Amino acid sequence: MNFIRLRKNNLWVDNILAIKLAKKYKTPFYCYSHSQIQNNFEALNNAFKAVNPMICFSVKSNSNLSLLKELKKMGSGADVVSIGELLKATKAGINNKKIVFSGIGKTEEEIRMAIKKGVLLINVESESEVNLINNILKNTSKKISIGIRLNPNVAGKTHQKISTGGKDEKFGLIYKDFINLSKKIIKMKNLKLEGISVHIGSQITNVQPFKKVLSAINKIINKTRINFKFIDLGGGMGISYSKKEKQINLLEYAKAVSKFIKNKKTKIIFEPGRFIIGNAGILITKIIHIKKSNKKYFIILDAGMNNFMRTALYGAIHQIIPLKKTNNSFKGNLSFVGPVCESSDKFLNEKKFSKLAIGDYVAIANVGAYGMSLSSNYNSRPTIAEVMVKGSEHKVIRQRQSLESLINN
Ligand code: LLP
Repeated sequence: MNFIRLRKNNLWVDNILAIKLAKKYKTPFYCYSHSQIQNNFEALNNAFKAVNPMICFSVKSNSNLSLLKELKKMGSGADVVSIGELLKATKAGINNKKIVFSGIGKTEEEIRMAIKKGVLLINVESESEVNLINNILKNTSKKISIGIRLNPNVAGKTHQKISTGGKDEKFGLIYKDFINLSKKIIKMKNLKLEGISVHIGSQITNVQPFKKVLSAINKIINKTRINFKFIDLGGGMGISYSKKEKQINLLEYAKAVSKFIKNKKTKIIFEPGRFIIGNAGILITKIIHIKKSNKKYFIILDAGMNNFMRTALYGAIHQIIPLKKTNNSFKGNLSFVGPVCESSDKFLNEKKFSKLAIGDYVAIANVGAYGMSLSSNYNSRPTIAEVMVKGSEHKVIRQRQSLESLINN
């Protein structure tokens, strides 16, 4: 079900006409559909019903506080990778026992905070991290739950820059190191080895790599004979960014996981980001100039790579939708670009599009995940607002940064 859709030539977000929002809020701004988020969250839960997983939303994909509060109401936990994300998740009211702390470079300050908050699991990625945690705890009677992140040597079959599971990547511990570290942790009085975690990359649309990961985990369990209380399968479930690209088959994945946990007493954890929020967000932007140059029409938007980085960073293709489609079309070489002084500040090339004029609005689609969270002040432009639409209501859930705050540093 799509809650952000073109109907009779108008783009709608839940029950609101996007053009109405564009006229009310200063562009560019992010806009999210609450119904879509809920729909995605439930779709994931339903597909994995037999497994009854703990869903820990990956905060890095979108860390808006109001959004985290909504996810908390839906029953989500959080996967965090920094002290900032941890404090945001707890501020949103997410139960500490539903928070997993991941990441390869946790600092002492971050580990102390995770211990203080009593998170469910600290997923470690190196021996030195284990030593650091052990040192922090050595004069206490505390016992902290630890997961080890396995590097399963499975490539996620995704964009090279978002693949994390290959043996040459910096993430996790390869088989032999995992076994050695697990032996060491078991002997430490302040640590409880309760989890095994993996995350092989993002935007994975094929179930095959996930199946290989399950086999790699089984190999570890057979070798160590540890009954891990938690098996954290990470995130990575891919969504459809274009007609050619199909969303991952969740039912097939769920079937594999059900088979995997048969005869195991373990709780499955997922850390999805993109699957929950990716298609629930659009970036509404205005055309500020149209310039013809050497047979090409540059459609210059007020949103740039500072607001949305995925295209410049990964060459990711995001569809652009007119808020009001006309019956006449614009034919020719169109290039939608931003105002930033970089040639990589471009979004999409099209050969045919609804007729456009200066002052019209368009939406960059499927930007809910890694949109706002990757944005910056590059070219000294303020960070932009975020708006949540819920049914027929809408409200700002992050104010646009003021020029005053921008120019203070
Ligand atoms: N768990 C861990 C340990 C992760 O590193 C990540 C993402 C996730 C969960 C969530 O993955 P998801 O379900 O969203 O695929 N900026 C890139 C994506 C980077 C992903 C980093 N890690 C992009 O825009 O495509």
